[in-house]
Amino acid sequence: MKKNEQKNLHPNVINGRALAHDFLESVKKEIEAQSAEAKRAPGLATVLVGDHPASRIYVEAKRRKAEEMGIESFHYAIEDNISEADLVRVISDLNNDPEIDGILVQMPLPQHMNARHVLCAIDPLKDVDGFHPENAGRLLIGNPIFIPCTPKGVMHLINGCGIDVQGKHAVVVGRSTIVGKPMAALLTNEDATVTLCHQYTQDLEKITSQADILVVAIGQANFFGKKHIKPGAIVVDVGINRLADGTVTGDVNTNAVIDIVKGITPVPNGVGPMTIAMLMDNTRIAHALHTGLMGMPS
Ligand code: GUN
Repeated sequence: MKKNEQKNLHPNVINGRALAHDFLESVKKEIEAQSAEAKRAPGLATVLVGDHPASRIYVEAKRRKAEEMGIESFHYAIEDNISEADLVRVISDLNNDPEIDGILVQMPLPQHMNARHVLCAIDPLKDVDGFHPENAGRLLIGNPIFIPCTPKGVMHLINGCGIDVQGKHAVVVGRSTIVGKPMAALLTNEDATVTLCHQYTQDLEKITSQADILVVAIGQANFFGKKHIKPGAIVVDVGINRLADGTVTGDVNTNAVIDIVKGITPVPNGVGPMTIAMLMDNTRIAHALHTGLMGMPS
C-alpha cells in the first residue's frame, strides 16, 4: 500500500484498481503469447438478456476490457421475452462455436427463467464465470478450473497485500452462489478457518468482530461499522449500493473504520476492477484449454 501516498489515498486503502492494472499487464502478455502460438485470439461471448441498466454497464465494461486485452468479444443482446428454451439454444450454438472460448451470461436473468437451467446449459469448459455445477463442485473439492471472478479477485486482493490466510479467522457475510459460497470455499482451500454468516446468523457483530479477514457482500449501504470490526483486520467490501443522490457506496462505512483496519477495499475501485481482471484471466485459461496449450484437467 506504499503507492497510496502518490495517489492521495489513505494508507489503509487497498487499491483494487492499481492491483488489477498490474495483474492485467501480465495476463495481456500471456494472451499475446498464447494467441501467437495458437494462431488465434481468445473469444469471449457475452449474453445480456433484457435491459437491466446496471447489467448493461457491467457487460460493456467487460467487453471494453476484453478488447484492450486482445480478446475478441462477441455480444448477444437478447430481448427479455425470449423463452428459456430459445436462450438455451443460443448457448448450445456458442458451445459448438470453435471461435468462442468463454461464455458469460450476465445475471440476473428475467423472472420467467430458471437461472440454474440456463447456467447448466453452458459447456463447463467454456464457463468463464465458474457458475456451472461442475465448476462449483471442482472448487469445493479443491481442483478448480474456473473460479468465480469476484471471489477469485478477492483472493488476489488479499494475497496482493502480502496476507497469508493460512490459520487466519476469515468471516464471510452473505451466502450467494456468485460470491459468498465460493469465497468460503476458496478461503477454506487456502487453510483459513472460515465462518460463513447470512441473514439468519445470530449476533453477527460478535462473529465479525473476531475476523482477521472480513469479506462482506450483503447489498446494504454502510451497514458495517466500527463495532463489527476487529482492529487490524483486512476488510473486503463487495457491496455496490446506489444511494438516492446517485453516489455508489459499499456495505461498510469506510470512514468509520479506516483508521482501525489494516486494510480495506474502497467502493468503487476495490473489488470491481479485480472481478473484471479475473474474467480476463479465466478467458485466457479457456483459450489455453481449447487450443491445446494447456492439458485438459483431471
Ligand atoms: N451478476 C453479478 N455479478 C456477476 C458475475 O460475476 N457474472 C455474471 N455473469 N453475472 C453477474
